[in-house]
Amino acid sequence: MPSRKDAWCFMAVVALTVVATRTHRASLAGRFPLSRRERGFMQERQRRTEAAVRAYERAAQRFDASRLEEASAAARDLSAAARRGDAAVVSILDHGAAGDGRGDDAPALRRAVAAAAGATAPRVVVHLPAGRTYKMSAVVLADVEDLELRIDGTIRAPPMDRWPARAEPEDETQSPELRRMRYAFLELRRAKRVTVTGSGAVEGSGRAWWRVRKRRPSVRAPVLLLVADSRDVAVTHLRLAESPFYHVVVLRSSSVALRRLRVASPPGSVNTDGIDLLAARDVTVDDCWVDTGDDNVAIKEGCVGVEVRGGTFYKGHGLSIGSLGEGGTTASVRDVVLSGVRFVKTSNAARVKTWQGGSGAVANVTFRDLDVRAVGAPVVVDQFYCPESQHPGPCANESKAVAVERVTIDGVTGWHTSGVAAMLHCSDAAPCDVSVSNLKLEGAPGCSNVVRCWNVKAGPGPCAAGNAMHGFRFDLSRKERRALAVNATCVHPD
Ligand SMILES: *[C@@H]1O[C@H](CO)[C@@H](O)[C@H](O)[C@H]1NC(C)=O
Ligand SMILES: *[C@@H]1O[C@H](CO)[C@@H](O)[C@H](O)[C@H]1NC(C)=O
Ligand SMILES: *[C@@H]1O[C@H](CO)[C@@H](O)[C@H](O)[C@H]1NC(C)=O
Repeated sequence: MPSRKDAWCFMAVVALTVVATRTHRASLAGRFPLSRRERGFMQERQRRTEAAVRAYERAAQRFDASRLEEASAAARDLSAAARRGDAAVVSILDHGAAGDGRGDDAPALRRAVAAAAGATAPRVVVHLPAGRTYKMSAVVLADVEDLELRIDGTIRAPPMDRWPARAEPEDETQSPELRRMRYAFLELRRAKRVTVTGSGAVEGSGRAWWRVRKRRPSVRAPVLLLVADSRDVAVTHLRLAESPFYHVVVLRSSSVALRRLRVASPPGSVNTDGIDLLAARDVTVDDCWVDTGDDNVAIKEGCVGVEVRGGTFYKGHGLSIGSLGEGGTTASVRDVVLSGVRFVKTSNAARVKTWQGGSGAVANVTFRDLDVRAVGAPVVVDQFYCPESQHPGPCANESKAVAVERVTIDGVTGWHTSGVAAMLHCSDAAPCDVSVSNLKLEGAPGCSNVVRCWNVKAGPGPCAAGNAMHGFRFDLSRKERRALAVNATCVHPD
């Protein structure tokens, strides 16, 4: 039982802390008061950002219209094929689904998929008709082959409190990332030649999960759509929204095409990566529009042969390769091409992140023809990755590193808001082999436009002259850096 004296002491400490923090902030603000010029710049930055967002919203509406038109055209083709006897369509409504947004339509989906397995037509389709909401508990469709799952209505996950406790215990020998991905709402497991498509949506009812995970990030939440141990799978046209966790995950699978998808989670969502690939081979991501609270697309350990072509990434952290090598692990990613993608208001566009102390390599990666609007720091190669959320306190200076080899960044056009067009922070032990060309970037009004280089292997481009850290100091703590940036988050003097 704390004494009255302890309680007074505690309150005094709290009060002093509050006063000290306020004074500190006030002194920083006082030391660097905003000039009229700087206020003008800030307004101009805001105006330009709002214009970029409005342009994005108009373009996203056009994208949705054309995506839905394409999905409807495919539905008409299917009806014609069914009339000719070239397609067998199994409706979930004929297998007991209510489609009224209540109850549990998962058993009906399982029955429809089982019934489809017996069909003999050249094309076999399980159909979830439009105009209905199919509330479902989690579904694993295992060992399905030669099937099209056509979702024209909405599939909705149950609210958080209706999820059962996890049945399978976690395998402690698996990497942390792999363990995070083992839990899903809709899973294709060991599928072959399967297409998931339609004009409908898969909704994750994620809000309650985000509230909990904001306070306790260690709570596991389900992935919305997981494609695991599968091959020849396509996912197209659907809208995937409000996932409790990552939206689409491709795990240990090959020949997977993700096309014309719309991923959308609002601000305040937690760890809602758009599309994540892990140990995936030969994956294409074509013209997907991803609006999310975390990585728009992340390419993680063991991926080989990934192409991301076109599409628009909004908010979120852009496209990330990694992070790799956490906790001294060995991890590699190779043969990746990202081209023709637009980024609006993301924190980064092209990013490679590795932890110190790991091994393996990021090799043969090309980022080409990117368009950035109101993006924080468009290009980031960071071999010192160590976010506060995953690693409180500084990371030790280690000599081992995940190698970064043959990374090409060719053509990034637009404007950024951090004052840093590109930061290439490479390890002392393993300088990275990154070539940068055609950076046509400008800073936002009043901001600098610098490239930071640290241990980049000599070559032509902005790091040709060697190290140039532009106002960034490795020897300052995060707190000190934040304090210095108080009135000039986007000014980085030479
Ligand atoms: C803050 O702003 C003032 C006046 O605009 C400027 O002189 C000073 O260098 C800025 N502080 C930093 C850390 O850049
Ligand atoms: C580099 O990656 C590209 C794209 O995946 C691939 O076509 C090419 O063969 C790879 N090059 C090497 C040397 O592996
Ligand atoms: C990290 O270690 C290297 C040598 O291994 C040294 O050159 C470098 O200055 C160290 N960096 C920091 C921030 O201590």
